[in-house]
Amino acid sequence: MELARTSSVSTIHVPTSISKTQLTKPNLLNFQFNPIPSSSFSRIHGKTSSKSKLFTTISPSPSPSSVSTESIGPPEPEVEVETKGEKFDWYAQWYPLMPVCDLDKRVPHAKKVLGLDVVVWWDRNESEWKVFDDACPHRLAPLSEGRIDQWGRLQCVYHGWCFNGSGDCKLIPQAPPDGPPVHTFKKACVAAYPSTLHHDIVWFWPNTDPQYKDIILKKQPPFIPELEDPSYTRTMGNRDIAYGYDVLVENLMDPAHVPYAHYGIMRTQTPKVKVDREGGRPVVLSVKKLDINGFDGDQEWGISKFIAPCIFYAYTKPFGESR
Ligand code: FES
Repeated sequence: MELARTSSVSTIHVPTSISKTQLTKPNLLNFQFNPIPSSSFSRIHGKTSSKSKLFTTISPSPSPSSVSTESIGPPEPEVEVETKGEKFDWYAQWYPLMPVCDLDKRVPHAKKVLGLDVVVWWDRNESEWKVFDDACPHRLAPLSEGRIDQWGRLQCVYHGWCFNGSGDCKLIPQAPPDGPPVHTFKKACVAAYPSTLHHDIVWFWPNTDPQYKDIILKKQPPFIPELEDPSYTRTMGNRDIAYGYDVLVENLMDPAHVPYAHYGIMRTQTPKVKVDREGGRPVVLSVKKLDINGFDGDQEWGISKFIAPCIFYAYTKPFGESR
């Protein structure tokens, strides 16, 4: 469940490309991203430093006679990263919200990402999925509790205000028809996030600042060629879990826990040197590329990549290559 096997992504420079025939039955998973607490978020954001050293987990191979958890020396620094003071902007990224196969066009859907409550709904007038703040500008009722009206607008369930795909209020039923056009007031509009359909997944950009209105023209979500290749198997999965996506991504890129946390469930390679009963071993991982946008890792079993902030994927090495 934890490893998504596919080949390289075009947005990452990879020294070697893997041909499609070298991979079999790719099994790509998609995960539901839950909020990270604001305190955790701030902590991560504030940790960016101007210069850092990466310590890989390559450890010296212990000889059979010296096998001990204490005999493994500290890892050698392998990659030095100069970030030039760059800060990763968590709110200036594309985030996957839901695979479209799990969305019903007839009703609005509530989602929470980065602590933001949003509503995803199908705008049949523009034939697009829309992502709004899940709060009506009138009395903050969740718009995800509302309905799609007969004109295809998102209607609040509380007093019936209606919104078009841009978040503009098109109707306040209680407003007298010969009175001021209160529905056109800015305060009557709901915040609409940039959104797009990509790889049959609805993505959104968690920032409604007008500068990002057409962000899709400048920056697209990461492109994964295999997801558009019918010769590959594609499986979408979606599950709400009670922790942030950052915890899950970190778990996926952490092979050291597998012999223990998945003991008896997931098979792992038989270690050359048996450190303990469960099959723990020194992890061999070489980071080939690292910058503010992620890393490429080379492990015994294959290649793994992280595309910040929330995509991790990996593929096994072709037969014949070092494992
Ligand atoms: S709270 Fe939405 S219309 Fe009143």
